[in-house]
Amino acid sequence: MMQTVPAPDKRDPGPGLARLVNAGPLVRMRVPLVGEMTFATTHAACEAILKDESLFSTDVMNGRNRRVNWLLRLMPRNVRVMTGNMLQKDGAEHRRLRKTVDAAFRRNAVETWLPRIEAIAVGLLDDWEASGDRDFVRHVARPLPLAVICEMLGLRHSDRADFTRWMAALSDAESIRGLPRLYMSLTRISRYLMARFEERRREPGDDLISVLVHAAEDGERLSDDEVLAMLGLLFIAGHETTTHIISNSVLTLLNNPMEIARLEEETAMDELLRHVSAVELTKPRYLTRDAELFGVRFRRGQAIMAHLAAANRDPAIFDDPDRLDLGRKPNRHLAFGGGPHFCLGAWLAKAELGVILGLLWKRAPDLALAVPESDLRWTGQAGIRALRTLPLTLSSGAGM
Ligand code: HEM
Repeated sequence: MMQTVPAPDKRDPGPGLARLVNAGPLVRMRVPLVGEMTFATTHAACEAILKDESLFSTDVMNGRNRRVNWLLRLMPRNVRVMTGNMLQKDGAEHRRLRKTVDAAFRRNAVETWLPRIEAIAVGLLDDWEASGDRDFVRHVARPLPLAVICEMLGLRHSDRADFTRWMAALSDAESIRGLPRLYMSLTRISRYLMARFEERRREPGDDLISVLVHAAEDGERLSDDEVLAMLGLLFIAGHETTTHIISNSVLTLLNNPMEIARLEEETAMDELLRHVSAVELTKPRYLTRDAELFGVRFRRGQAIMAHLAAANRDPAIFDDPDRLDLGRKPNRHLAFGGGPHFCLGAWLAKAELGVILGLLWKRAPDLALAVPESDLRWTGQAGIRALRTLPLTLSSGAGM
């Protein structure tokens, strides 16, 4: 018998996450838009589900959740095409798609981007300071990963104001009422990305879109729909998640000031990722056959999601799991998921996080919240722990 458990509080998730782990390994919880779902909440259960490719599929077509199928039917075609990305494919098809872009996100490839990430971050911090506006999300945490993925894809700097507007609709989609605006924004993003792809077809460059053009021209490797799905995934996954990890990490460090001196330790970014767990949930995994899991019977097509944020506070794996310990080792956190769909952008995300936190505290050792913590607002998005704004003061004196 699975317990139904309330979702953890965004402001202070520790107690709610502990409840989820205690009630696990499987629990039921309500998810906005989708309804009640089953979640794996212990580290062992999440890992088992994410790694078992023979029993679980990420392909939404294998699902029998009526609400999900209904939501899919409502989608305009070009938005539905974007959902056919590598994250929703299994086995050989998944590997074929992932291989086309894999090299660009390996550790050594990401390291070549470090000087550029640093230059972009310095520019954003300068502009933020000059703006007189205190919001770190708007001026730094949002534009940094967006600028980096845009440069990797080879998108024009002058178009960024448009993306930022379109992306805002994604963060605002908290209920059915937000869907028309969400679909309109995704349609704009998809039209824009396809137009850039056509440009690179005519005039290739040395960016990631050109890599995809090459793969698409090389016989059967990628269809046009697959290119669009890939671009949409890289563009959206490439910055939305990192924005929330960056801003949540700043808040977490402000609440744990003794840890700030340890930011340069090799283990620091992984511990922030574990503790913050801004991507709380994976995509659903659909059972490919009837099976019993942890004493519960499931039918083929039923869905389970891995609750990564709960798994990352599992006391069976992490001593004193609510404590931020930047020297934690080993640290088998699941912030980037696990198994074949382990986050493609993990090295890039860690590089961006490390660069911006290092620069921020070098520039502003007295960094502080500009408002009481209880005034901070969190979005209601399912599965994401995201600050709407993070007003900061850079120095203890007057002004920012
Ligand atoms: C700190 C920031 C990030 C976090 C916490 C994060 C988290 C995750 C998680 C949990 C998954 C697995 C989802 C599942 O199994 O259902 C995933 C997959 C993925 N992520 Fe990230 N991500 C981050 C940044 C990035 C960046 C910068 C990129 C850059 C392109 C990226 C690209 C992807 C892609 C393409 C996948 C799908 C991989 C596959 O299906 O094989 N992510 N990410």
